[in-house]
Amino acid sequence: MSVPDRTTVAIVGSGPAGLLLSHLLVRQGIDSVVLESRPRERVESRQRAGILEHGTVDVLREIGADARMDTQGMPHDGFAFHAHGEEIRVDMAALTGRGVMIWAQTEVVRDLIALRLEQGGPLLFSAEVSAVEKVDGPLGDDGQAVVRYTHDGVEHELHADVVVGCDGFHGVTRRAIPGESVRTFERVYPYSWLGILADAPPSSEELVYARHDRGFALLSMRSPSVTRAYLQVPNDTDPSSWSHEAIWDELEARTALADGSFTLSRGPITDVSVTPMRSYVAEPMRSGRVFLAGDAAHIVPPTGAKGLNLAVADVQVLAEALASWRGTGSQELLDAYSDTALARVWRAEHFSWTMTTMLHRVPDGDPFDDRLARSHLRQVASSQAYRTAIAENYRGLPL
Ligand code: FAD
Ligand code: DHB
Repeated sequence: MSVPDRTTVAIVGSGPAGLLLSHLLVRQGIDSVVLESRPRERVESRQRAGILEHGTVDVLREIGADARMDTQGMPHDGFAFHAHGEEIRVDMAALTGRGVMIWAQTEVVRDLIALRLEQGGPLLFSAEVSAVEKVDGPLGDDGQAVVRYTHDGVEHELHADVVVGCDGFHGVTRRAIPGESVRTFERVYPYSWLGILADAPPSSEELVYARHDRGFALLSMRSPSVTRAYLQVPNDTDPSSWSHEAIWDELEARTALADGSFTLSRGPITDVSVTPMRSYVAEPMRSGRVFLAGDAAHIVPPTGAKGLNLAVADVQVLAEALASWRGTGSQELLDAYSDTALARVWRAEHFSWTMTTMLHRVPDGDPFDDRLARSHLRQVASSQAYRTAIAENYRGLPL
């Protein structure tokens, strides 16, 4: 693929944020180059999120990445909490009029890559960005930022009016912003998630988020024959220290209902991994010619299923702002980008923290926190207003 050495928007990273941004910009007639450090196969195979908010579904339809999603994705109207053996159903569709779609991040990314390559890119894999320079200065003809990257052992420079860091939490773009102009907020949780993929039909039609004395468990799915499930485990757990039978036993114990009405379906486990839990926000999400989007700027613990959806929301706001700048010359929306995006980011941070602390149990943790979590779940069970607030946040708030 031929890659120019100048572009309007240089996009670092081809996760959901970078890929979707490149698609939204094409629709506005704005040229971009996407640089991705990993090979295509790696990007397409990383097991990650599974829940798309209705707004995320809408934007994938708008750009034409909907054919497989609409035939193979699974629309869900609700989900259940299993709170110490008692079921509480959250009927999102009845409470808020909209639901979510189960469609794996791997599939979203696969479709976005295929579509982009069909259009001719430029989207370059195995192209690691080492530095972003000339960050400060006005946008436009007065100067460009420089992105340095290596591809096939050769160093290249890409000059761009704007650089968008979509390179995830460990990326390089955030580090290009002078430290004194960034404020960071962080919380690390005293537990991780052990995630599995299994050739087993889902145990129920809807997702189950369980809180039990033994800890949190989540039953999700990837298709009518594939289960995705998670268990709260101690930090630094070695995935190989869990036998497959022990994983199923633990999922069964934590998701069981007191009346015995819930049955876990088991099958061969095909993938096991451990993910730490973190909340993180970098403010502002812009410095000069550099903008941050998605995990490059913020991380949420996965309990609220917000990470991927937040990345999508960021680039929708940014694409509109870039289009306004190119179309009218006005930088008003670009200047507002960070504040606009951060309002949604902090809503998602709060929701994710709420779901996380309500549903996890810290072994030998503070008994006060345990009582608060139990009281919180009782409130969810008894109050429709409370369930509505959860449903609104889970299925996604308007942009
Ligand atoms: P990413 O998807 O991280 O993409 C960043 C891209 O940038 C990567 O492809 C990376 O290779 C590339 N890159 C990095 N550095 C460079 C460089 N120097 N040069 C070029 N390219 C670079 N969310 C949920 O909602 N539910 C979940 O169950 C869930 N599970 C997760 C499990 C794991 C292990 C992780 C890491 C995240 C998980 N998330 C989950 C979060 C969700 O997947 C992310 O929020 C989402 O991927 C964010 O998209 P993004 O495009 O911002 O970043
Ligand atoms: C999945 C992941 C989540 O973090 C979540 O809250 C719900 C579902 C999943 O991978 O399917």
